[in-house]
Amino acid sequence: MGEWKGFTLWMTGLSGAGKSTISDVVVAEFDKRGVPVEVLDGDVVRENLSKGLGFSKEDRDTNIRRIAFVADLLSKHGTPVITAAISPYREIRDEARELHGDRFIEVFIATSLEDCEARDVKGLYAKARSGEIPEFTGVSDPYEAPENAELNVETAGKTPEESAQQILDYLEEQGFIPSAN
Ligand SMILES: Nc1ncnc2c1ncn2[C@@H]1O[C@H](COP(=O)(O)OP(=O)(O)OP(=O)(O)O)[C@@H](O)[C@H]1O
Ligand SMILES: [Mg+2]
Repeated sequence: MGEWKGFTLWMTGLSGAGKSTISDVVVAEFDKRGVPVEVLDGDVVRENLSKGLGFSKEDRDTNIRRIAFVADLLSKHGTPVITAAISPYREIRDEARELHGDRFIEVFIATSLEDCEARDVKGLYAKARSGEIPEFTGVSDPYEAPENAELNVETAGKTPEESAQQILDYLEEQGFIPSAN
C-alpha cells in the first residue's frame, strides 16, 4: 500500500472493445493495493445519470459531458476514476481533457471493428447490421479514434489481464498509483 493521486482514466473504444472487462481487472488490482476508485461505465450511467438520453449526436455529447463533469469533480478531490463509455467524438473527449488538465489519461482500447463484431458480446452488431438498431457506433454512426492518447491498448490475442497490465504499468511509472507488492 502507498499513496495515490486523483486522476481520470478515460477509456474510449468501440462497443465490445473491452472497456468494461479491462476496467473490472484494473479495479481488482486497485483493490489489492488499497487504492480507491470510482467507475463511470457507459451502460450504468445511461441507466441513471443520463437516463432518457438517446443516441443522437447531441444526446451522446450530453452523456459524455456529464461523465466528464462527475469524473473531474471526483478526481480533483483525490479519487481515481475510470470512465468506460464509447465516447465516439474526439472533440468532446478533448473537452473532457481540458476540464481535467494534467489529471486526464486517455486510453484507446484499440480493438478493430472486425474483432468487436466477431465477439458481438451483446448481439448488438447483428442488430445494427440488420437495421434493427439505428445509429450504431462503427456501423451506422461515427467513431473517431484518438490521435494522441496516452495509451493505446491492444486486445487481439491478449487476455484482459495482459491488456490491463499495460495500463497498470503506465499508472505506476507516472506515479499515479503505488506499485504492487
Ligand atoms: N484482452 C482483452 N481485453 C478485454 N476484453 C477482451 C480481451 N480479449 C477478449 N475480450 C472479450 O471482449 C469482450 C469485451 O466486452 P466489453 O463488454 O468489455 O466491451 P465494452 O468495450 O465495455 O463494450 P460496450 O461499449 O458495449 O459496453 C468480452 O467478451 C471479453 O471477454
Ligand atoms: Mg461496457
